[in-house]
Amino acid sequence: MNLSIVILAAGQGTRMKSKTPKVLHPLAGQPMVQYVINAASQLSSERPVLVVGHGAEQVRQALGDRVTYVEQKEQLGTGHALLQARSLLEGRNDAVLVLCGDMPLLSAATLKHLVELHRQGEGPITLLTVCADDPRGFGRILRDEAGQVVGIVEEAVATEEQKKIRELNCGTYCFDDRWLWLHLPQLPLSPKGEYYLTDLVAMAVEEGHTVRALAVEDATEVLGINNRLHLAQAEAILRRRINERWMLEGVTIVDPPSTFIDAQVQIGQDTVIYPHTHLQGETRIGCDCRIGPNTVVRDSTIGHRCAIQASVVEGALLEDDVDVGPFSHLRRGAHLARGVHVGNFGEVKNSYLGPSTKMGHFSYLGDATVGANVNIGAGTITCNYDGKRKHRTVIEDGAFIGSDTMLVAPVRIGARAKIGAGAVVTRDIPPDSLAYGVPARVRGRATEDGEGDG
Ligand code: UD1
Ligand code: CA
Repeated sequence: MNLSIVILAAGQGTRMKSKTPKVLHPLAGQPMVQYVINAASQLSSERPVLVVGHGAEQVRQALGDRVTYVEQKEQLGTGHALLQARSLLEGRNDAVLVLCGDMPLLSAATLKHLVELHRQGEGPITLLTVCADDPRGFGRILRDEAGQVVGIVEEAVATEEQKKIRELNCGTYCFDDRWLWLHLPQLPLSPKGEYYLTDLVAMAVEEGHTVRALAVEDATEVLGINNRLHLAQAEAILRRRINERWMLEGVTIVDPPSTFIDAQVQIGQDTVIYPHTHLQGETRIGCDCRIGPNTVVRDSTIGHRCAIQASVVEGALLEDDVDVGPFSHLRRGAHLARGVHVGNFGEVKNSYLGPSTKMGHFSYLGDATVGANVNIGAGTITCNYDGKRKHRTVIEDGAFIGSDTMLVAPVRIGARAKIGAGAVVTRDIPPDSLAYGVPARVRGRATEDGEGDG
């Protein structure tokens, strides 16, 4: 049996005080609403319906076709928001699950319980509640003497007595499809000029129905994000969950509170993450690596047995057995083949370094193709930019580039060629030759003693 799912996300999120629509604020590297969409996808094979309004265009751009969009042009309340999905959903499935886009920590397991409870009962509404000491501005659940749910009162209109109630409405409901779409257009206008979805509960009770409630056990699941304090609280909870998951998967995290791993990151077994490390975006790390301390890896793929210390790695690909740092920067398009060593104060951009190539100290390689077993001496620089355009440098297998060499691109260093220290290379150097000087000229065979650096 399938299920319709609607995620309400049209509200302005005024309390965030932001240009960005609330549901797009990131948590562990992805928009908060993405977590709600992910949970929804575990309950129904149909794409969820997202009600958008404030910042609709930005939301559409960020989420693409992962959801079906419905627009609420004016934000006239949660009841009015849900009503916008009626023509799309009425009669499609037997039940409708309604979620809020600003409650990202709610688990699919809790939602499954809610839907199961709904399907076991007769009533047209089953809702999620939480008992919490901090009422957080949530609606209060009203019950009669027999303990039956009879209504929900919003904090703004609650009496002092009602405000003391500690059973709160989480804003997550499962409805009978037929009953919902029949009653939703009949919601009364609230004193605040909005149509409150919550008023459906009293309507159902007046008709003689029983409204059932599922109380969530873990109150952190129903943290609704209304301001940036809540955002930081949710981030902290998520970060802890992510770290715990990886530790249970066989990753050592030396200091979890100072380790920041985004939701989509993948990490292999027996990798050790040292303190103050950030693993961000679409990053994959293999097994038996040592990452950190003080390292940022963003949108990169790292092979097995790599070590990265106190460095920043962005948009890079590292094959197995590569070691980097301390204090190096690998930028977009850096591809380090197996066994490459990049020591301290190195920068690599849009370049390939072949197997076992070494670049130990203070070097910059940009727009370069470097073969296998090349030694890049300390202070080597590819002068890849002439002020207008970028040019490529090619260094073939086994070449030896002496310390403080300037490679003025476009330029090619032949296989096994040896460049003496301090050279400024402006012309191609043939294989097996020895070149040095300013400008560098071929002055013999590479087998002869030349300038060099270890
Ligand atoms: C709502 C509930 C409250 C509950 C709380 C839990 C109502 C009237 N109140 O209050 O009982 O305790 O959630 O978080 O439902 N939205 C729209 N269009 C609108 C208004 C809101 O799409 O016109 C969306 C918002 O983007 C948000 C969700 O509905 O995702 C909830 O709206 P919000 O204004 O945050 O409601 P609360 O005051 O939190
Ligand atoms: Ca809210």
